[in-house]
Amino acid sequence: MSSQPAGLKDRAVVVTGAGRGLGEAFAVHLAQAGARVVVNDIDAGLAESAAENIRRYGGQAVASGHDVADPEQAQALVDLCVGEFGGIDGLVNNAGLNYEALPWQEEPGRIRELVGVNVLGPIYTGVAAVKAMKAQGRGGALVNVSSGASLGQRKLGVYSASKGAVASLTYSWALDLEEEGIRVNAICPLAHTRMVWKSERSLRNCPPDRTPSRIAPLVLFLLSDDAEGITGQVVRCNGPQLHIVGQPYLKAPILERDSWDTETVRRAFDEVFGAHLEPYGLEKRVPPRLRKWTQTPLRSA
Ligand SMILES: NC(=O)c1ccc[n+]([C@@H]2O[C@H](COP(=O)([O-])OP(=O)(O)OC[C@H]3O[C@@H](n4cnc5c(N)ncnc54)[C@H](O)[C@@H]3O)[C@@H](O)[C@H]2O)c1
Repeated sequence: MSSQPAGLKDRAVVVTGAGRGLGEAFAVHLAQAGARVVVNDIDAGLAESAAENIRRYGGQAVASGHDVADPEQAQALVDLCVGEFGGIDGLVNNAGLNYEALPWQEEPGRIRELVGVNVLGPIYTGVAAVKAMKAQGRGGALVNVSSGASLGQRKLGVYSASKGAVASLTYSWALDLEEEGIRVNAICPLAHTRMVWKSERSLRNCPPDRTPSRIAPLVLFLLSDDAEGITGQVVRCNGPQLHIVGQPYLKAPILERDSWDTETVRRAFDEVFGAHLEPYGLEKRVPPRLRKWTQTPLRSA
C-alpha cells in the first residue's frame, strides 16, 4: 500500500471541475487520504455522483454545481466548504475548457467562455478561498492547474494563453501569500481524459494507461504538510515523468543606454541579440533568422 502524505486527514479541500477526469481523481484520492472534499462541477449531476461515490467508500464529500467563472458562485462554492466543514485548507483550481483553433478561426464567444473558466475561474475561486484562509489564520495551500501548452502550442493559442495566465498567477500569489502561510503551486498534468479524446494529436501523446490517478499523488503532496517550504513552483507530471517547469526570466545581456530609437534597436538585434534569440513554443522552434545556422549544413566552399 502506498503511503499517504502527512496532515491531509480532516483537511477541507475544494476541487473544481471534479465531476470527471483529473478533478474526480484528485477528489477521490484526497478523500482516501482522509480529507473532507467539496466536489465541484458545473455539471451538478456529475458532481453529485462523484461525491456519492466517495461517500459510498467511507469518504467525506459534498457536491457543488457552482460555475467558477461567476464570482458570486465562486464565493458560494467556498462558503459551502466553510459551512459544511468549518473552514477551507486547500483549493485545487482544476476546472477547465479547451478547444483547437487557428487564430483566424477564433470566435469571440468561445474565447470569452474559455478565458472565463480557465483564467477568471481560478482567480475568483482563489480570491474567495484566500480571504477565508486568511480569516482562519491557519494557512492553506492552492494548487492551480496549468498546462505544458502554456509554453506555446500550435492551434492552442487561447488555451495556452489561459494556462500561461495561471502560471503567472501562481508566481504572483506565491509572493503575496507566503507571509500568510498560504502556499501556491501549479501543476502541468497529462492524462487520458475527455480533453485528450477530443484531439488526435493529444491522443498520440497520451495513451490510455496515462490515467488521471497517476497525477493525483503530486496534487496530494503539494496540498499536504510534506510540501512545507514549497511555493511558487510549476511542476509537470505526464505519468512517467515528473519535473519542475523553468520560469521565464530576464535574459542577459541587458543592454543599456539613455534611450532607444529604432536605429539603435535594429543595431542591438543585428549585433547582439541575433545570437540570443530563443527557440519558441513547447516544440522549441528555432526562429527563422537563426535557422540557417542550425539547420543547413555549413559548407566551407
Ligand atoms: N487532460 C490533460 O492531459 C490535461 C493536460 C494539461 C492540463 N489539463 C487541465 O486539467 C484540468 C482538468 O482537465 P481534464 O482533462 O480532467 O478535463 P475534463 O474535461 O475531463 O474535466 C474538466 C471538468 O471541468 C468542468 N467545468 C468546466 N467548466 C466549469 C465551470 N465553469 N465551473 C465548474 N466546473 C467546470 C467540466 O464540466 C469537466 O467535468 C483542466 O484545467 C485542463 O486544462 C489537462
